[in-house]
Amino acid sequence: MSGFTADVRTRLDDDAAQIVARYPEARSALLPLLHLVQSEEGFISRNGIEFCAQTLGLSTADVSAVATFYSQYKRRPNGEYTVGVCTNTLCAIMGGDEIFATLAERLGVGHDETTPDGTITLERIECNAACDYAPVMMINWEFFDNQTPESASDVVDRLLAGEKVGPSRGANDVASFKQVSRVLAGFDDGRADEGVAAGAPSLVGLEIAKEHGWKAPSLDGSDDAAATTPEPGGTPGDQAEPDTGEEQSSADRQPTTPQDTDPTTKTSADKTSAETKDDAAGASGEGTKES
Ligand code: FES
Repeated sequence: MSGFTADVRTRLDDDAAQIVARYPEARSALLPLLHLVQSEEGFISRNGIEFCAQTLGLSTADVSAVATFYSQYKRRPNGEYTVGVCTNTLCAIMGGDEIFATLAERLGVGHDETTPDGTITLERIECNAACDYAPVMMINWEFFDNQTPESASDVVDRLLAGEKVGPSRGANDVASFKQVSRVLAGFDDGRADEGVAAGAPSLVGLEIAKEHGWKAPSLDGSDDAAATTPEPGGTPGDQAEPDTGEEQSSADRQPTTPQDTDPTTKTSADKTSAETKDDAAGASGEGTKES
């Protein structure tokens, strides 16, 4: 038995059954199941670990190994809002480091720490593939683009005051950590179509391609003859893509070793490996017959 009360356990069992039914193997449901228990308690407790293990027929060590690997699973009570400041290279040099320092001072907490009132957990986060909006801040994984120390401070002040805040893209406002965890467990909150999806900077490449009539080549290569290659610094020409091995093709590398022209040629590493095996076999008597 896990340590949840009977009514909570019943509710979790019902939800877990829906999640597990989506997968051919029960153990494949572990990631959404961890989000489910996180939506109940706001973090992955020992109770949550035991619940997942019992439900999926895994050991608690198996479940803990996964829960401790991914940073989205919290092993301590999390704030209602996770405020993550991207401090990977691009965001950092565009102001991410300054934003994090400003928020840390404003909130009086460091990385992976929660404000005493339980409202905000502050984190340094890795690249969120939103570099075209750097520096980026995420609140419960909703995007706040092109931030400054001032704009980021204003957002966290509003959260501390109990106000709702709206991201630059995505849902109209940011849901709580528990609510978002339930969505990540696979339960639709009906808000997927709210707000702006792709913003203008993400669509610049698409607009340029439309303007020039550029298309991605077909997967089966049937339009190879029509494929075009942009001229450096100019508009795409009419020339077809070079064949493999031709100038400017991805295989345009001159052979530099015997193995480049004949892959069956033994390298010195292969020979050393074979000799080592022979030595080992000789030492163990393997491959020899004693009369
Ligand atoms: S470096 Fe921050 S979103 Fe990519």
